[in-house]
Amino acid sequence: MKHLLIIANWKENKTIDESMQFMDEFSKLYSPREEAEVIICPPFTSLSALFQYILENSTKVSLGAQNISSYEEGAHTGEIAADQVKGLAKYVILGHSERRAMGETNELIEKKLLNASGVGLMPILCVQDENTHIPMGTMIVAYEPVAAIGTGNPDTPENADQVAGKIKGRNQSVKHVLYGGSVIPENVNTFTSKQNISGVLVGGASLDAQKFSQIIKNA
Ligand code: PGA
Repeated sequence: MKHLLIIANWKENKTIDESMQFMDEFSKLYSPREEAEVIICPPFTSLSALFQYILENSTKVSLGAQNISSYEEGAHTGEIAADQVKGLAKYVILGHSERRAMGETNELIEKKLLNASGVGLMPILCVQDENTHIPMGTMIVAYEPVAAIGTGNPDTPENADQVAGKIKGRNQSVKHVLYGGSVIPENVNTFTSKQNISGVLVGGASLDAQKFSQIIKNA
């Protein structure tokens, strides 16, 4: 059976209290699946509380950050380093199109990738198509066409599968290609059933405990 990664990207949403409310509701609805790893990527401010919650409740989810600094440490006000995140999270989303739109370049993203790998934090590199630069050694890629993000207009599963196949064909190190962009409980399986797609990155629908637990069931 295929190993699936199902990722919640909360973006700039949820206070600490709201994150805890989500976990309480989600825990009642969520049935862990042997073949699926569920990864929640909250804002930095909620990481510590979620880490504690998961520890105390033995919740079967992993944590990820949504970004890290391109610097390892030092005088960089407002930045958070890979090794600071490492104590709380297993994964980090890098190169999301929303960050690229704010000016992140491939060069900057590659520095972040190196920092993450250097401390054992697993990067999930977002790309917008098969032509986006993927540094050597990258293992997890999320294909997220910009026009599909937050619009309710997902890519077709056939096209997403083709792009995922090309990404794997061109980049030997890539083990998992995920799809992201307007994934909801009703369409998740049309993507995860495709040969080259090993999971989903979910934005909007991951903010709702009911919808997100249903996505996990349906995937
Ligand atoms: P969406 O976002 O599910 O709200 O389209 C996906 C993402 O940006 O990762």
